[in-house]
Amino acid sequence: MSYVSIRDLRKSYGDVQTLHGLNLGFEEGEFVVIVGPSGCGKSTLLRMIAGLEDITSGEIGIGGQVVNDVEPANRGCAMVFQNYALYPHMTVAGNIGYPLKLARVPRAEREQRVREAAEILGLTDYLDRRPKQLSGGQRQRVAMGRAIVRQPRLFLFDEPLSNLDAKMRVQMRIEIRRLHRRLSATSVLVTHDQVEAMTMADRLVVMNGGRIEQIGSPSEVYARPASAFVAGFLGAPAMNLLPATVDREGILRADMCPDRMLAGDLKLPSGTELTLGVRPEDFTVAPAGRGGLPAQVDLIEDLGGMRVAHCQLPGGYASAVLPRESAVREGTHVSLIPDVARLHAFDRVSGQRLAEVAVAGADAGRAESDARSEAFAPA
Ligand SMILES: Nc1ncnc2c1ncn2[C@@H]1O[C@H](COP(=O)(O)OP(=O)(O)OP(=O)(O)O)[C@@H](O)[C@H]1O
Ligand SMILES: [Mg+2]
Repeated sequence: MSYVSIRDLRKSYGDVQTLHGLNLGFEEGEFVVIVGPSGCGKSTLLRMIAGLEDITSGEIGIGGQVVNDVEPANRGCAMVFQNYALYPHMTVAGNIGYPLKLARVPRAEREQRVREAAEILGLTDYLDRRPKQLSGGQRQRVAMGRAIVRQPRLFLFDEPLSNLDAKMRVQMRIEIRRLHRRLSATSVLVTHDQVEAMTMADRLVVMNGGRIEQIGSPSEVYARPASAFVAGFLGAPAMNLLPATVDREGILRADMCPDRMLAGDLKLPSGTELTLGVRPEDFTVAPAGRGGLPAQVDLIEDLGGMRVAHCQLPGGYASAVLPRESAVREGTHVSLIPDVARLHAFDRVSGQRLAEVAVAGADAGRAESDARSEAFAPA
């Protein structure tokens, strides 16, 4: 049985239903990240687990006990918020030890536990400082210290990094993972940042509009997104999603340029109207006229580690990753040739993933390998 188990959990504010019957389990010691766009119900879910928000219906169990009617303080969990409001007039030690003071833990034990938490978080030298004398990252660590001293078996983090600058976020991401390895308490972190989600999670829960879209390891979810929503949400640059149809001969064609064949030998029946997903790294950018999708490079973004070509297609846009040495320039006419083995297909209406698209493609596959060998010469 899972350490945290959630059964048919619903939440309504007045007439508006926010969570639509969630079923979820968190295993003991795992690091789960709940990710989804703003307003999808992540904080509401976390606050319900912590006991800070009433449950409309359903059941939450922690450590084998139903906690629906258990006070927050007795649920064995500690929550770290985005706005970690420290008490400005208290020292770091005072802030970290405050929950223990509230719980009337004797002074000597309190001091001991504060020292241990400070040691774990690298705050030993700052115990006498006040919050305003700390950097953003140090303040965030104090907020985590306040959670650690309670020795919870379940950590709940609600966007704990979103107030930090980009560099500090990366650093704290790693620190939180280290902390988890050291304490091995079950941890649930909520974020709308997909990079944070991909890098931190043992297991990802992707939410959308108060429902769960997919649960899986980051690599599973990335490789086989269960819906067009997940496909478009995870991955930067985002997956290209294009309307496409399998014609009467069983050939896959993008609706915006039906004269070009993208793949043959499909596992999908003729007539299937779908949303085709192609990750930008799964497009080969070949000279114009080589099959695939005709496109003109509109803008090239240099992200340091990679360059992304944003291209204008006959009826839309698509992006593709360029090899570093590529001679492609803004304005160049190109062909975008998808890797047939890495196509994703989603039902046009429901957005749900369809069976695998391709049997490694006959003609399209050949066109692709020709194009790869004829790719642009180095600049
Ligand atoms: N007290 C409330 N009264 C009415 N509606 C609420 C209340 N709290 C939240 N909601 C609504 O419930 C939905 C989910 O809110 P929630 O705060 O859980 O979203 P979230 O996924 O955490 O978003 P964000 O990423 O912006 O923090 C939103 O549409 C929000 O407007
Ligand atoms: Mg929130």
